[in-house]
Amino acid sequence: MSAKAPMLREGALNGMVVVITGGGTGLGRAMAEQCLRLGASVCITSRKKESLDKAAEEMSALGTVLPVVCDVRDWEQVEAMREAVLSRFGKADALVNNAAGNFISPTERLSSKAFQTIIDIVLMGSVNCTLSFGKHWIAQGERDRAILNIVTTYAWTGSGYVVPSACAKAGVLALTRSLAAEWGRHGIRCNAVAPGPFPTKGAWSRLMPGELVEKFDMRKKVPLGRLGEHHELADLVTFLLSPYSAYINGEVVTIDGGEWLKGAGQFNLLEQIEPGMWDAIEQLVRGTKGS
Ligand code: HXC
Ligand code: NAP
Repeated sequence: MSAKAPMLREGALNGMVVVITGGGTGLGRAMAEQCLRLGASVCITSRKKESLDKAAEEMSALGTVLPVVCDVRDWEQVEAMREAVLSRFGKADALVNNAAGNFISPTERLSSKAFQTIIDIVLMGSVNCTLSFGKHWIAQGERDRAILNIVTTYAWTGSGYVVPSACAKAGVLALTRSLAAEWGRHGIRCNAVAPGPFPTKGAWSRLMPGELVEKFDMRKKVPLGRLGEHHELADLVTFLLSPYSAYINGEVVTIDGGEWLKGAGQFNLLEQIEPGMWDAIEQLVRGTKGS
């Protein structure tokens, strides 16, 4: 059997409606496609209408995809996104807080606004979507609902050079565990997944720009000696969204080939960069367009 075939049996998510923020690119898209293959309908959201619509069109052969433009930092847009989902599907069964913003930088080079921008996307974006759907589910008495937050291992180890992201992901992990305890009685499960390195354009262009990708070969940090494959993450995510994980609540599942145990704080190694190089690196990262 091919490892790329979905782990769950055909139709395992039949009838489910799954909302995935940042679902038009990278890992979010891999998760969305696997949900579709297993029978769910999917809403994908992000800020850029053109790329979102294109992704939805390309994915539509797999199932029903609703693209909704929504900046997760903006409460009104999040509420409007939830309304659009309910209006189209009548319900939402699961929310995946996957949207993120990140870039490498020595912390002393950051402005307050730069720090705030990452906190707003990652932490407040997850909070906004969680509040919007959670309030609705509780008010309607809808049970068997799932929230899945995408964090990373530096949520608990911390990491230099990505400090706003580390702070925000730590907050998202605290949100996960806190609400698992508080909202379990409402039939809402809250879990998280902590991926190690999985190549995507969005992450690699901002975290390993230019020659850094060769200089800091991420595979060398992973005991298994390789990077993650998108379908491996998608299988884990669909399991955690499915009824087969109905008794898993408040867990964070690491999928990193053992990376963090070998060397915590993924980007601490950037201390090897000569200080004079950071202007050029910043220009490369700022020049990134799209995900
Ligand atoms: C220093 C920077 C900067 C950089 C932006 N800023 N880029 N500071 N170095 N490289 C500063 C700006 O100068 C500004 O502050 C503030 O940050 C906001 O910048 P904007 O460009 O106005 O923000 P915005 O248009 O909202 O874009 C957000 C973004 C961008 C995060 C900067 O990269 C983006 O849209 N990213 C979305 C996708 C993404 O990042 N994907 C990667 C996820 S990977 P001032 O003070 O100048 O106004 C991931 C992996 C985790 O999370 C784990 C890996 C193992
Ligand atoms: P990506 O493709 O850049 O994904 C980020 C997505 O978030 C994009 O679709 C982006 O779309 C969206 N987004 C950004 N800001 C937003 C906002 N304000 N409102 C709504 N959507 C917004 O990167 P990725 O690698 O797939 O990352 C996906 C998730 O996995 C993130 O949570 C990341 O932290 C996590 N992760 C990734 C890795 C990895 O190795 N790749 C490792 C650990 C964890 P727009 O720009 O169009 O809005």
